[in-house]
Amino acid sequence: EHVVSGRRYVASIDQGTTSSRCIIFDHDGAVVRIAQREHRQIFPRPGWVEHDPVEIWTNVRAVCGEALAASDLTPADIAAIGITNQRETTVVWDRTTGEPVYHAIVWQDTRTDVLCRELADGAGANRYQQTTGLPLSTYFAGPKIRWILDNVEGVRERAEAGELCFGTMDCWLMWNLSGGVEGGLHLTDATNASRTLLMDLRTLDWDEEICAQMRIPMSMLPEIRSSSEIYCEVRARGVLGGVPVAGILGDQQAATFGQACLRPGEAKNTYGTGNFLLLNTGTTPVISEQGLLTTVCYQLGEQAAVYALEGSVAVTGSLIQWLRDNLGLISSAAEAEELARSVDDNGGTYFVPAFSGLFAPRWRPEARGAIVGLTRFVNKGHLARAALEATAFQTREVIDAAAAAGMHLTTLKVDGGMVVNDLLMQFQANILGVPVVRPVVNETTALGAAYAAGLAVGFWDSTEEIRENWSAGHTWHPTMPAEDREALFHDWNRAVERTYDWIE
Ligand code: G3P
Repeated sequence: EHVVSGRRYVASIDQGTTSSRCIIFDHDGAVVRIAQREHRQIFPRPGWVEHDPVEIWTNVRAVCGEALAASDLTPADIAAIGITNQRETTVVWDRTTGEPVYHAIVWQDTRTDVLCRELADGAGANRYQQTTGLPLSTYFAGPKIRWILDNVEGVRERAEAGELCFGTMDCWLMWNLSGGVEGGLHLTDATNASRTLLMDLRTLDWDEEICAQMRIPMSMLPEIRSSSEIYCEVRARGVLGGVPVAGILGDQQAATFGQACLRPGEAKNTYGTGNFLLLNTGTTPVISEQGLLTTVCYQLGEQAAVYALEGSVAVTGSLIQWLRDNLGLISSAAEAEELARSVDDNGGTYFVPAFSGLFAPRWRPEARGAIVGLTRFVNKGHLARAALEATAFQTREVIDAAAAAGMHLTTLKVDGGMVVNDLLMQFQANILGVPVVRPVVNETTALGAAYAAGLAVGFWDSTEEIRENWSAGHTWHPTMPAEDREALFHDWNRAVERTYDWIE
């Protein structure tokens, strides 16, 4: 059995949009134990989404303790910890007191739309694309930091005096795990930094000019490190004390790693609250003209960074949650599939969930959601079906954008919460016209971060082991005639165009 000084497991902390989890993996990459806690979604106004960073840190400590206790393990059994996280979500805190100055502003939040428009003015929404790989959008962390600096009393002065730290969730957890006010480390990895609109993709360092234009003091920014190295040992009391923290990857990059997409041209699509397609492009960043993002995929220690093209779709799984929580149409996600199966097709209905505007590949912040094609014929089964189909159509859009950039996928590797939905996965294969394949271990996000950490401490020897551990679980093959597929997709596109420019 594989042992690193008697330690047979790696732990992964997955701090996601709706919950925090701790998952313990063995050397084969199999799940030993999962502990999970949800946190509050705070919606102070239309378009605003916040989390309480203190609640999240409390939950992270709790799930780590629970996962260990439930598997009768102690910190001495854990070779390393990897952190993976919802990306872009922005926390600003006081380095002396450890207190956040405001709630975390979540990636889905659109309050910075006016600010983004102002920053784009004259220079265009793509003014930072060559440097950062990203369009100016409410999605990214930079404008969210600026909003906190401009709108929370006293914060700009404190930031300029060097009293405050900015971090994405990985960074906030890292600071707390490494001791918090007692010498906590203020660092992030290149994948998370690549989601701020402030990092130069090629130098992997903060871009002074962009920071100045966005009026963000550089003293707030964390040090940027690789995704796989020993950063520290846990010093926080009661949570995995003494275990090395050795991996950090944004959750979508972690899933790409966990899915063994390690060569140029390999891609995965994760079905979470949103959908995120990442396509490995190797060690050169490829700038997209089709609305895909360029992002750091991973950087292992001293090795050159590997980049990815990304198609980020803001609302997919969260639309099903919305049907449950805001409409009461279903009582569980599983019921959405059941309801959708009660009808033969969408009955001519299309559901465009532009709740945060539209992300890739359209980048339309002024869009808002719509259901079109309604007639007296339509019932709730059709609505459930249209909601599920929206996920598949949006994925088709980003895959078409990748194809336009010369990247043609012959199969699609999938993971995430929604891939248990057989109706959706079959429809996905149909609407793409390529097979869709789910791996045996669906916990690819947490697994990817575990791999990054385990590689740094020698628990795994090389990325070849990642490839060996990956195996296909289920494959869906397309069954729909091309003509039907294109007719549906044509109507979807017409529906989406009707949601443009809703916010004037
Ligand atoms: O970019 C946002 C993404 O990282 C969120 O992922 O899985 O928490 O919805 P998830």
